[in-house]
Amino acid sequence: MRELQHSPHVPFAAHLLERKDLSEDTALFRVSPEDGALATLSTFVPGQFLQLSVPGAGEIPISPADLLTPDGTMELCVRRVGHVTDLLHKSKPGAVLGIRGPFGSGFPLREMAGKPVLLLAGGLGIVPLRSLLMYLLRQRSSYGEITLMYGAKQPKLMLFREELSALAAAGGMRLYLTVDFAPETLDGGYSCAVGLLPDLLKGFHFDAVNTYAAVCGPPPLYRCLVTDLESAGVDATRILLSLERRMRCGVGRCCHCALGQKLCCLDGPVFRASELKGIPEAL
Ligand SMILES: Cc1cc2nc3c(=O)[nH]c(=O)nc-3n(C[C@H](O)[C@H](O)[C@H](O)COP(=O)(O)OP(=O)(O)OC[C@H]3O[C@@H](n4cnc5c(N)ncnc54)[C@H](O)[C@@H]3O)c2cc1C
Ligand code: FES
Repeated sequence: MRELQHSPHVPFAAHLLERKDLSEDTALFRVSPEDGALATLSTFVPGQFLQLSVPGAGEIPISPADLLTPDGTMELCVRRVGHVTDLLHKSKPGAVLGIRGPFGSGFPLREMAGKPVLLLAGGLGIVPLRSLLMYLLRQRSSYGEITLMYGAKQPKLMLFREELSALAAAGGMRLYLTVDFAPETLDGGYSCAVGLLPDLLKGFHFDAVNTYAAVCGPPPLYRCLVTDLESAGVDATRILLSLERRMRCGVGRCCHCALGQKLCCLDGPVFRASELKGIPEAL
């Protein structure tokens, strides 16, 4: 008998297992999707997104913070900014959420193999880049040098700080942290400069010809970093930008996420800088 395919428009149920506060407005939610979702979710490629629904509130795009674990759970890092995210933050373990996806294009992992990777994250942009970083570190021998530069407004808003420092201390990657503003009590143990993310890139010597740069952060950051990376010698086809747009269907039907002739949910959210050159509103 032919097996009926699950519609991409219908969410799977996902139980909220636990939440861990990462900052005053951002938390990591561990969810356990129903068995029927696991095969689809195991195809998730870092950079893709899910449509997460919170009953009674609505549905929002979220980039998983890591791959599906072997025991079938997933981590979602969500900042409380409005209606849906507020209700999610109020949800208790045991709450039933909905998940559709994964959707969109992720980072070109095969093409990046053997090459150095430079990850540039600003603020909440660390979330999709964390899933990429975890993937690269698990496949460490298949990639060149891995460097993460991460900027936040202030130290207390820096997400995954201890985890990233531990990963760097283990030797698999280079880590550069910076904050726009630091109050006096900057506790040691990690390198944390005061300055903007593009400042970190300025004195950085790297193999620009071979490097793939993955960028995610607030909108003003993209234009600045693309210019700096290109000036350093990174080709625009190897500058990978994870963009955010308002989304509704997630599958190319509603045109809510249009970027010129492209749709962020189908053609992105990861785009090469070269693809966006003729679309002024993209960056
Ligand atoms: C591909 C993709 C991946 C994302 N991944 C994550 C993630 O991993 N973690 C996370 O916390 N957030 C992520 N976001 C952003 C998240 O989807 C929005 O914060 C969420 O939709 C806000 O819903 P809300 O109902 O709580 O806020 P609303 O009540 O709808 O809006 C509150 C405020 O947030 C602004 N806002 C709403 N949606 C967006 C958006 N898409 N882009 C920019 N501003 C917006 C509104 O203009 C308003 O100022 C992602 C967005 C996209 C497109
Ligand atoms: S969200 Fe509907 S077309 Fe992209």
